[in-house]
Amino acid sequence: MFMIAKVVILVSCMVTSVRTMLLSDNVPRLQQVSKKRGIAYNAACLVDALVNKKADMVSWTYNWDSKANNEMLLDLEYVPMLWGKKDFSGWRTAVEKALSGGSSHILGFNEPDLMSQANMSYSDAAKYYKEFITPYAARAQLISPAVSSSTIKGLGLDWFECFIRDCKDCSISGLAVHWYGNSVDELKSFVSDVISTASAHGISEIWLTEFALISDTNGVSDETKTAKFLNEVLPWLDSQPEITRYAYFYCANGYLVTNDAENLIGEIYISSSS
Ligand SMILES: *[C@@H]1O[C@H](CO)[C@@H](O)[C@H](O)[C@H]1NC(C)=O
Repeated sequence: MFMIAKVVILVSCMVTSVRTMLLSDNVPRLQQVSKKRGIAYNAACLVDALVNKKADMVSWTYNWDSKANNEMLLDLEYVPMLWGKKDFSGWRTAVEKALSGGSSHILGFNEPDLMSQANMSYSDAAKYYKEFITPYAARAQLISPAVSSSTIKGLGLDWFECFIRDCKDCSISGLAVHWYGNSVDELKSFVSDVISTASAHGISEIWLTEFALISDTNGVSDETKTAKFLNEVLPWLDSQPEITRYAYFYCANGYLVTNDAENLIGEIYISSSS
């Protein structure tokens, strides 16, 4: 009996180690094929219309909310966000559901540096982050609140600097930022400031979770200009190792879609590769 039991144990150990080898052998390859490009949306049906059967260029979605609202037709990672104070009450239930549905990242507050958005002092934001997001550190990668690209003192990266000093022990591994500006060069210069800020605080990843030309904030105003901007900026973003995820603003009529169907800008966004 004893000998037989020993043989059984030996065999099951061998099986386990073969599985482990296969798994660890597969992990790096999976990471290499994963893409940075995501889709920011309000209406899930428009994501389906946009991505259609060409989902290979996008890998994730978010909707500034903690629940997807609609089942995604495609196999894209949904990343829940705790937008701000208004969402505290339903948060824990929603994030549990997202995590058990396969989400592996969590986004922090939306532009807490702006009064018109999540409107939080950096000290309140740090306190709330620790209370509502840090507890999920073992189950997801935690991304910072997304700050605006404002260069006004106390806003943008300046707000983040103060916040992260209060949130050193928040388990944040990605810095989320938004950018609205006038040219590819302006975006590149902003990203370089973001990289310096992140690395000064031991943060290795940048998430650009909203970006667009200022002239397109209320919808694409000049398709030719926007097409040129995206054709130039997308390969550049893909080539920057510090930028691990990005999402153009955004999947909605007048932006990436028109009359609920993909337009030229949407076509470029989901098919341009580098
Ligand atoms: C922003 O937050 C401050 C401090 O909590 C509050 O006094 C102010 O009314 C808020 N502003 C808006 C527009 O919500």
